[in-house]
Amino acid sequence: MSVAPQSYQQGYSGFAKSLHWIVALLVLTTIPVGVAMGQIEKAPFNLFNFHKSLGVLILILMTIRLIYRLMHGAPPEPYIPVFYQIAGSITHWALYVLLIITPISGAIANMYYGAPTPFFGLFEVPPFFTKNEDTANFIFARHRWLGFTVGALVCMHIGAGLFHYFIRKDGVLQRMLPGS
Ligand code: HEM
Ligand code: HEM
Repeated sequence: MSVAPQSYQQGYSGFAKSLHWIVALLVLTTIPVGVAMGQIEKAPFNLFNFHKSLGVLILILMTIRLIYRLMHGAPPEPYIPVFYQIAGSITHWALYVLLIITPISGAIANMYYGAPTPFFGLFEVPPFFTKNEDTANFIFARHRWLGFTVGALVCMHIGAGLFHYFIRKDGVLQRMLPGS
């Protein structure tokens, strides 16, 4: 079967694309900040608060995005083999789930640690739970692994996007770019 010309394919809505690229930027910032904040003793500003605030913003945007996606669906797929369709669906839905569970786990661990959850200096949410450092450390350990899993999936996802664009030339990446 031939591949449909790229200009005939319908892309994601402007709203879905905007949220995709804003969240992509936030995730690609918060993971390195998360890794750096434990390593740099005297950071120029509070990297912990920056990491937490970015995470809260990701949680808010991903919740909106998930509701929008469930209500509106995705544009029709260009022709791609079933294997790529299944691999793409699993990765995309795993990212939706992980980008909601990971910040929630971080916020819960942070609250058990007795710390408030900041939002870019605008406001803070006080801890809901009684301080318990053992519970906090237990959840933080899971949070770290969830965060690294997000990082691994994002690498695969970016690799897949570039593979579709440069090697298969099947119009999949264009669906998420401005102008489609
Ligand atoms: C999508 C959102 C998030 C991602 C992808 C993420 C990712 C990560 C990663 C990869 C680490 C491990 C860094 C390392 O050990 O080198 C980490 C640590 C941490 N994160 Fe997050 N995080 C997110 C959201 C949050 C939120 C919302 C909070 C709190 C409100 C938070 C609080 C923390 C804290 C305090 C640590 C250090 C934990 C420790 O020292 O054991 N994170 N995060
Ligand atoms: C942290 C970075 C990123 C995250 C968390 C992310 C997440 C996602 C998610 C959850 C979807 C599914 C959208 C839906 O169907 O509702 C998606 C789709 C897509 N993403 Fe990303 N993305 C990221 C970065 C990128 C980058 C850098 C590229 C370009 C290489 C890219 C290209 C695409 C494309 C082309 C689609 C649509 C795939 C299709 O039509 O089936 N993404 N992304």
